[in-house]
Amino acid sequence: MIVGLLHPGEMGSALGTALLQNGHEIVWASAGRSEETARRAAPFRDVGTPAEVAEASAVIVSVCPPHAARNVAASVAGFEGIYVDANAVSPATAREIAGVDGGIIGPPPRDGSTTRLYLSGLDASQVAALFEGTAVEPRVLSDEVGTASAMKVAFAAWSKGTAAMLLTIHRLAQAEGVDEPLLGEWREWHPELLEDLARAGRAAEQKGWRWVGEMEEIADTFAAAGLPDGFHRAAAEVFRASPQPGSS
Ligand SMILES: NC(=O)c1ccc[n+]([C@@H]2O[C@H](COP(=O)([O-])OP(=O)(O)OC[C@H]3O[C@@H](n4cnc5c(N)ncnc54)[C@H](OP(=O)(O)O)[C@@H]3O)[C@@H](O)[C@H]2O)c1
Repeated sequence: MIVGLLHPGEMGSALGTALLQNGHEIVWASAGRSEETARRAAPFRDVGTPAEVAEASAVIVSVCPPHAARNVAASVAGFEGIYVDANAVSPATAREIAGVDGGIIGPPPRDGSTTRLYLSGLDASQVAALFEGTAVEPRVLSDEVGTASAMKVAFAAWSKGTAAMLLTIHRLAQAEGVDEPLLGEWREWHPELLEDLARAGRAAEQKGWRWVGEMEEIADTFAAAGLPDGFHRAAAEVFRASPQPGSS
């Protein structure tokens, strides 16, 4: 099967590698992409533009920053194969753009670890079959587009939402000059928070810029379900202060 990959980022290239292992051919589009993406895409065939990816592929997998998911889908408008949106978007966004909905949980596979690819939609089983037996473990949730994104939203709402909250509480304590005694109390009462805080700081530094869109998609999902959306609007504000890629 020829599978189009938009685009071979950290996670996208890992999905492409898994597909290669199963004997599929991967095509990608270098137009407008960085040298870093081209380096990761070396094992794949460059066909130039997203339109040419659409021309060549039976399946397209979109793996890009969540805020770009709509534009990436628009770049292959009219594509008649199976379009998989594997991004951290709301179920409503997935329903707008995807034929098969995907939600990725876990970092790219390395050293024998696996990454879960949740899938939903009428053709989800066909997409799952492409990854079967690789380090990207497919799990089909339902035949409705939106379910896989809901799963990803629910997972990331906790992991990234609490990271944003922890960073904000620590900054408040610093602003009020009570960070040392606070860390002392955490050490006694919640020792796990010290490692959580360090991890949240590192992650926000590296990837926080990409999480702004994801937090907004999560907030939209809570609002659509009639639940409070303010936690994740605030989390988006926290991550908006993170460095942009290439700014350091
Ligand atoms: N990395 C992880 O650990 C992880 C875990 C779970 C889920 N995911 C999901 O995977 C998706 C991508 O993550 P990633 O880690 O692969 O990101 P990444 O390494 O930053 O790669 C993103 C790719 O998308 C391209 N891109 C960036 N901005 C774009 C834009 N405005 N329009 C079109 N393409 C754009 C980049 O190309 P250029 O840089 O060349 O422009 C790059 O090839 C996200 O939806 C994320 O939620 C990632």
